[in-house]
Amino acid sequence: MSDPNDLSVFLDLGWQRLTRGVADKRAAARHPVLATVSPEGRPEARTVVLRAASRSAATVEVHTDGGSGKITSLAAHPFAQLHVWDDTARLQIRLSTTVQIARGPDAAQKWQDVPAGARIAYGASPPPGTAIPHAHAYRKLANRDWFTVLTFEIESIELMQLTDPHKRAVFKAFDGWAGAWWVP
Ligand SMILES: Cc1cc2nc3c(=O)[nH]c(=O)nc-3n(C[C@H](O)[C@H](O)[C@H](O)COP(=O)(O)O)c2cc1C
Repeated sequence: MSDPNDLSVFLDLGWQRLTRGVADKRAAARHPVLATVSPEGRPEARTVVLRAASRSAATVEVHTDGGSGKITSLAAHPFAQLHVWDDTARLQIRLSTTVQIARGPDAAQKWQDVPAGARIAYGASPPPGTAIPHAHAYRKLANRDWFTVLTFEIESIELMQLTDPHKRAVFKAFDGWAGAWWVP
């Protein structure tokens, strides 16, 4: 039985549940909520697919259409939170990040690994978010020029677990992820 007061064990659990989302399509962390701030300063949140997670680099990765609204927001405010609620582990994960945007030649290597059937998610005419006269008045382009890789550089990880009693801890990059318990 591991020590419930051991911060490093708690952080291990967070990374374990997070990385599971990359490999396992049914894992909770497969579909984080990505929250950004619009150019006007308004909060925005949407579901995304977790494509990669690296504990050693302290990064996670999401793929998107370069014409989507979130790119406009991230260009204005390159900061984002990713949120996961993992019901199996009774664990909420919040990642506070700075975001790097790579597109075109900078994303070309990763485009090679996108399966043909999945490429349709990238590029649309008219562009994503355009008002259209009926539901199907658009074409998907499967165009690598619109394929965009978002790399989230994690600055802090907050874990909140609904154990009895509840547990909450915050881990920050600047002190080597030592972590501290917080009142839930
Ligand atoms: C289950 C699910 C997974 C999704 N995965 C992604 C994704 O990986 N990348 C993405 O850009 N949009 C994804 N979407 C669509 C977004 O939630 C959102 O509708 C779209 O990106 C437009 O958002 P924006 O206008 O805020 O950029 C997903 C939606 C659902 C329901």
